[in-house]
Amino acid sequence: MSDKPTTADKPKPKKRTVPSIAAMKRRDGSEPIVMITAYDAPSSRVATEADVDMILVGDSVAMVVLGYDSTIQVTVDDIVYHTAAVVRANPTAVVVGDMPWMSFHLSPVDTVANAAKLIRAGASCVKLEGGARRVPMVKALVDAEIPVVGHVGLTPQSINAMGGFKIQGRQEAAVHTIVEDARALEAAGCFAIVIEAVPDVVGKLVTDSIDIPTIGIGAGVDTDGQVLVYQDLIGLENRFKPRFVRRYGTAYANQVASVQAYAADVRSGAFPNDEESYQASEELTEALGLYGSQPDTGTSLTHS
Ligand code: KIV
Repeated sequence: MSDKPTTADKPKPKKRTVPSIAAMKRRDGSEPIVMITAYDAPSSRVATEADVDMILVGDSVAMVVLGYDSTIQVTVDDIVYHTAAVVRANPTAVVVGDMPWMSFHLSPVDTVANAAKLIRAGASCVKLEGGARRVPMVKALVDAEIPVVGHVGLTPQSINAMGGFKIQGRQEAAVHTIVEDARALEAAGCFAIVIEAVPDVVGKLVTDSIDIPTIGIGAGVDTDGQVLVYQDLIGLENRFKPRFVRRYGTAYANQVASVQAYAADVRSGAFPNDEESYQASEELTEALGLYGSQPDTGTSLTHS
C-alpha cells in the first residue's frame, strides 16, 4: 500500500469568519492573515484550494479584468456581479465586498443600502477607503450588522485628489494623520484595516497603534497580514509591476503559449483528432451514404 496522501486524507480547509479574522493579531501569537483578490468562480476555487484566509472582491477588477485605467469606473452592480461569482465557488475564506467610489460618500443611509447589496450577493463584510471622515458611514454599517474593513494610506479611489497612485506617509505630519485615521476607524467599529503603499515603518507603526489586525499591500512585513491582487501574483497582469508585487507565476506567458499552440494545431489540421470528435454509428454512416468516403486515416467513423 502506498504512503502517498490521497484527496481523502487531505484536511479540509477550515471556514473562516469575521470574528476569527478579527482575532488574528500577530502580537497575540496569530499567524499572518493571507488575503488575495478574486473576481470570479475559478479564481475563488484556486484561492480556496490554496487555503487563504480572506478573499477581497476588489474594485481593482476595474483595472485587471475590465480594462479601465483606474478603479473609479466600477459600480456597486459590478461588485455585486463579481461577488456572487466568487461566492458560488463556496470559498472557505471570508469574502469582502469592496465598496466602489461614490457608494459610501453621500450619506450613511445610502452607504448601508449599497453595502446591503454586496452582503445579499454573499459577501460577509465590506471594505471602504478613507480615514476619519468615513467614521459616520462605518458606524452606520456596524449598526446595521455589516462588518467593515477600513483602508488607509494609498486609496486608489482618490487618484484625482492624490494626483496619481502615489506612495503615502512620506512626511511626518502625513504619518500622524494615517495613524489617527486608523485609530478613528478602529474606534468606529472596523474589524480590520488595509494599509496600502506606505513605508514599512509606517505599516509597523499603524499595526502597533491599534488592536485590530492590519493587512498590508506595499506596507512592509510587519503588518498582521498581506494582500495581493490575484492577476499580479500569478503573473497574468504583465504590463505594470508595482515594487510591492511579487510574481509567483507566469500565467500570461503560459496562456499565450497555450493559445499559440491551439492556433497552430487548428491551422495545421492537427486539432481536433478522432478522440476529440464524436463518431456516428455504422447505420447512420451508411444511411447518409458516407460509408467509405472518409480518408483512410486508420480510424473509422463507426468508433463509438
Ligand atoms: O481593490 C483592491 O484590490 C484593493 C487592494 C489593493 C487592497 O483594494
